[in-house]
Amino acid sequence: MRVAHEELTTYLTGLVDGKRTAPGDDLLSELAQVSNEGDRLSQDEVVSMAFLLLVAGHETTVNLISNGVLALLDNLGQMAALGADPSLLPNAVEEFLRFDGPINIATVRFTTEPVPVGDVEIPADQFVMISLLPVNPDADRFPAPDLLDITKPGGGHLSSGHGIHYCLGAPLARLEAEIALGRLLHRFPTLELAAERADLEWRISTLSRGLHTLPLRVRLPPARLMRRGAMTTTPRPRGDTSVRAERLQLGDRRCTYRYK
Ligand code: HEM
Repeated sequence: MRVAHEELTTYLTGLVDGKRTAPGDDLLSELAQVSNEGDRLSQDEVVSMAFLLLVAGHETTVNLISNGVLALLDNLGQMAALGADPSLLPNAVEEFLRFDGPINIATVRFTTEPVPVGDVEIPADQFVMISLLPVNPDADRFPAPDLLDITKPGGGHLSSGHGIHYCLGAPLARLEAEIALGRLLHRFPTLELAAERADLEWRISTLSRGLHTLPLRVRLPPARLMRRGAMTTTPRPRGDTSVRAERLQLGDRRCTYRYK
């Protein structure tokens, strides 16, 4: 973990150096140039900010969205309910955070005095690593904790932490997930897993809970895509039944449309 941390810091430092000398039209260039009455963010501050945005801000939200899509694919009734009623999105995102949240552990704490937890006392001067995910399926707190239920009022889980270090980006992450999942289900009402469920690989990580990849197959009538002007494709050769699928370009995404 320490080596990965050092390598990422070295990479980001080089990137920020490059943005200072040759700024582009991007967030990191803006941060590198930021000034407040002549002050500039120091190199360390910009690198820390880039680190934060990437690890705390990006990685987490990507995993929230993909873990949520997987949870829906495993619970097609819930997917149909969400597709039919987008007002369920805030509840659904809360439930995805509880059901299979993207962060395994809270920020590491350090005890300045003995801290009693249940029957145990943690001595002073100890690092404490708090695991979040096993807390969320707590049957005392959530009836039927192993079932995904996007219709019940959300909240009460610990996926964004607790106390004074509660996630600073929690509202932003929820908003991003609501927009991404809402648009995804609206645009592609029929989503399917394009891999065997058992073949999906989870990252090996102390911090994150997320998949390496989540291959999806989308089904949309080509006429609808054509109407939106979003599709560029080669028509199926007349009478050639050997062609069973086409690659489609949807904006900057590629997907496969399979003929019925
Ligand atoms: C689904 C997405 C996210 C999850 C699950 C998540 C989860 C967490 C957790 C568990 C903590 C530690 C809380 C604690 O120790 O009590 C935390 C802290 C933090 N998060 Fe997030 N986070 C997410 C998105 C974001 C975003 C988008 C940002 C900013 C762009 C962000 C910025 C931070 C910061 C700055 C802290 C440290 C707060 C402090 O120490 O006072 N997070 N987050």
